[in-house]
Amino acid sequence: MAKILVTGGAGYIGSHTVVELQKVGFEVVIVDNLSNSNIEVLSGIEKITGIRPAFENIDCVDYVSMDRMFDKYQNISAIIHFAASKAVGESVEKPLLYYRNNLVSLINLLQLMPIHKINNIVFSSSCTVYGQPDILPVTEDAPIKTALSPYGNTKQICEEIICDTIHTNPCYKSIILRYFNPIGAHPSAEIGELPNGVPNNLLPFVTQTAIGLRKQLNVFGNDYDTPDGSCIRDYIHVVDLAKAHVIAVQRMLNQRTKSDVETFNLGTGRGLSVLEVIETFEKVNGVKVPYRIVDRREGDIEKVWADPTYANEVLGWTAVETVEETLRSAWAWELNLAERAKAE
Ligand code: UD1
Repeated sequence: MAKILVTGGAGYIGSHTVVELQKVGFEVVIVDNLSNSNIEVLSGIEKITGIRPAFENIDCVDYVSMDRMFDKYQNISAIIHFAASKAVGESVEKPLLYYRNNLVSLINLLQLMPIHKINNIVFSSSCTVYGQPDILPVTEDAPIKTALSPYGNTKQICEEIICDTIHTNPCYKSIILRYFNPIGAHPSAEIGELPNGVPNNLLPFVTQTAIGLRKQLNVFGNDYDTPDGSCIRDYIHVVDLAKAHVIAVQRMLNQRTKSDVETFNLGTGRGLSVLEVIETFEKVNGVKVPYRIVDRREGDIEKVWADPTYANEVLGWTAVETVEETLRSAWAWELNLAERAKAE
């Protein structure tokens, strides 16, 4: 079976994708500098699939090491490029770090592809490229809005770099996947989201508050123009998201792409408010999430959810997990983490 390079494969979405790739027989090489992940993830993957993926602790910004890595693992058929910095607030404080990490990593991969005879790359993009869409649900041809943060800008620029580069060689193919809000964990609870320090994203903050690691969740604003006043997002189970990457790789390898760059929204098509997430989480897991309403968070979008029709029809992919199941899996993962912490 074909060999796939997964950059950022020890991270949250990356590790779930490695599992799904291995499940259908792909051989996986992970490159990850562990800047926002833990080497123990490899054991979690192994417990689920029975296979420990090849792993290289390399920063994708390091061209020479990446070149050597490609020499070592011959015949890689496709790259899935997850490795990137993703904290919006930090990107405002350290813009150059974000431009360097996210742009140079991608440029290195694109430069190394022809040298190592690799034609296919899947890129992790984000619904952040749409900003606040004028029309909801948002489709792939909605206008790209001026980015609200350096992080968001790197996603837009990376998409442009891919388009410009892929057009230069008729053998090249790329699939750009625009994620909505991935949450939840593998049903085995062996892998999940492992944020370093205080979480920025909603779900890890919810689970850490429910388990008592945080006193209270801050809900950023209840005066938005939404039914309950809190922001609306499209929360998608990370395993559903991971499966879309397998389909994208198979589509490229089987020469089924219709154009050299294809772009897909990966979302459920369902919008959920922050307060609905909290309420559903409490109900399905039988736990309380103490919260208070605070001021809006700078840069937050009021409401966004996907029109996933294009991915449904063209990729034959649909997000199937219910939000209840997704929130149960997030809690099971947090409980597992607590068990592990106790055992140490
Ligand atoms: C954010 C980024 C997005 C990025 C994604 C991945 C912004 C504007 N967007 O998505 O570009 O791709 O992270 O890291 O930052 N919330 C709370 N309390 C919290 C945390 C979050 O109320 O403690 C609310 C937020 O206001 C938002 C929702 O929960 O309405 C989801 O927030 P979050 O999980 O941070 O994701 P996004 O902001 O949608």
